[in-house]
Amino acid sequence: MDISCIILAAGDGKRMRSSLPKVLHSICGTTMLSSVLNTAEKLIPNKIIVVAGRHMDLIKKSVQAKDVLFAMQKEPKGTGHAVQCAEPELKGFKGTIVVLNGDSPLVRPETIRKFLRLHESKKNSVSVLSFIAEDPAAYGRVVRNISGEVTAIVEDKNADKAEKKIDEVNSGVYAISYDVLYLLDEIRMNKTKREYYLTDIISLSIKKGLKTSAFCIGREDEFMGVNTKEEFYRASHMMRESIIKKWSKKGINFINTDSVFIGPEVSLGLGTTIYPNVYIEGKTRIGRGATIYPNVRISNCIIGRNVIIKDSTVIEDSIIKDGASIGPFAHIRPGTEVGSGARIGNFVELKKAFIGDKTKASHLSYIGDAKIGKDVNIGAGTITCNYDGEKKHITMIGDGVFVGSDTQFIAPVKVGKGAYIGAGSTITGDVPAGALALSRVRQKNLLGWAKNKQRARSKEQRARKGKEKKIT
Ligand code: UD1
Ligand code: CA
Repeated sequence: MDISCIILAAGDGKRMRSSLPKVLHSICGTTMLSSVLNTAEKLIPNKIIVVAGRHMDLIKKSVQAKDVLFAMQKEPKGTGHAVQCAEPELKGFKGTIVVLNGDSPLVRPETIRKFLRLHESKKNSVSVLSFIAEDPAAYGRVVRNISGEVTAIVEDKNADKAEKKIDEVNSGVYAISYDVLYLLDEIRMNKTKREYYLTDIISLSIKKGLKTSAFCIGREDEFMGVNTKEEFYRASHMMRESIIKKWSKKGINFINTDSVFIGPEVSLGLGTTIYPNVYIEGKTRIGRGATIYPNVRISNCIIGRNVIIKDSTVIEDSIIKDGASIGPFAHIRPGTEVGSGARIGNFVELKKAFIGDKTKASHLSYIGDAKIGKDVNIGAGTITCNYDGEKKHITMIGDGVFVGSDTQFIAPVKVGKGAYIGAGSTITGDVPAGALALSRVRQKNLLGWAKNKQRARSKEQRARKGKEKKIT
C-alpha cells in the first residue's frame, strides 16, 4: 500500500506547563516526536510530513531523520486544521494518508500495519484506530450505533451523559484515502474550543456514504496520549519498563533495573552487564560483553565488544573500539575515536580526538583536536593547548611516543614516532621521530639555602625587637 504519514506536532501543549514544546520532551533520551517519527519511518512511507507551529525552528533542529517534510500551522486551530496545513506537501500523492499524533510516543509500527491492513481489506475511505481506556476522559469517545458501526467521535467536553460512559476512545491514528481529503474543508469550527476537530471527519465521511470504520485493536499502554506532566511520567515509565524487559529477554545482565534508561533506538550486545543509574541514549550501539558501571551516560555512540566503561563517565557521539576501557570520571566528547585495547582513565577529557590502539591516557588529561598513534603513553596532566583564542589547532603524536607527565602541546604541533617528551615540558615545536624533547629549566640545587634563610630571618627579628625597646 502506498502511504504517506502526517505527524501532528503543532499544538500548544499548554497542559504540560512547560516552555519546551510538548513533543520535544524526551523519554529515555529520545523526544516524543522522534519516537513517532521512528515508527512512521518503519512503515516505509512515500512522504513524512511533520506539522509544527510557532516552535518550528526548534522542532526542525530536533529532527535528525532525513527526508522529512515540514508544514507550518501558524495558529493551533485544531487537529483538522493541522492536517489541512500539510495538504500542500501531499501534492500529487495518490494513496493512503496515515495521521499520527506527535504526543503518542509509544505507538508501534506493527499495530499501525495491522490497522492499515484492516483499512485496506475493508476498502475504507476513512478509518480510525481505537482502544479501551481505563479513564476515557482525556480522549474522544467512539460512538457506535446498535449495529456496532461507528457514527462519530465526541470529545469529552462535548459528550453527553451517555457518551461519557463509553470507554472506547480515539487513539488519534487515522487512515484517510487521498481522494476524500476534501472532507477536511467541510469540518466546521467546534464552538466549545473554537477549533477544527479532525475527529469530525468520521461523521462527515459517513454522511457522504463513504466506507468508514473504527478498528478497536489498540491497547492503552501503546496509544496513551501525553497532555500533562503526569501522563508524561506515566508514558516514560511504561516505555522504560518495556525496553528493559525486551533487553532482559535478550540476555542483558542488569544488576538492578530500577534506574536504568535505555533509548528505544539503542542496541545492546549479548552478555553485556549494566549497573544502576546508567543512561544509554540515541542511536547507541554496544557490542557483546560490555560492562557499564554506575552513573554513566552514553549518547549516540558505537561501542565495540568487551569494552569497560567505569563509573561516572559521559560519552557522546564517539566510537570506542573492542576491549577499550574508559573512566572512571572520564568525559569523551563528540567526534572521538578510541582504539582497541586503549585505556582512558580518571579525569581525562577527550574531544575530537583519535586515540590509537593500546594507547593509554590514564589520569588527568585534556586531549582535544588530536591524532594520537598506537601504543602511546600519555602521562598524567598532559594538555593539548588546541585553542589560540581564535582558532583550533591539531596535535599529532606518532606511534609509540612516550609523553611524560605535565606536558603541554602548543598546537599545531607534531611528534614523530617513538619520540620521548620529558615530564613538565611545554612543546611548542615539532619533535622528530625517536628524539627526546625537553623544555624545562635545568634543576639547580643551592646547598645550605634553608639554613641561610633561617639565619637571616632570626637576625631581622632581633633587630626589630631592639628598635621596639628603644621606643618604650
Ligand atoms: C486528540 C483527539 C482525541 C483523541 C486524542 C488521542 C481531536 C479533537 N481530539 O485529543 O479524540 O482521543 O487526541 O490522543 O483531535 N495539534 C496540532 N495542531 C493543533 C492542535 C493539535 O498539530 O491545532 C497536535 C498536537 O501537537 C498533538 C496532537 O495534534 O500532537 C493532538 O492534539 P491534542 O491537543 O493533544 O489533542 P487531544 O486533546 O489529546
Ligand atoms: Ca493529546
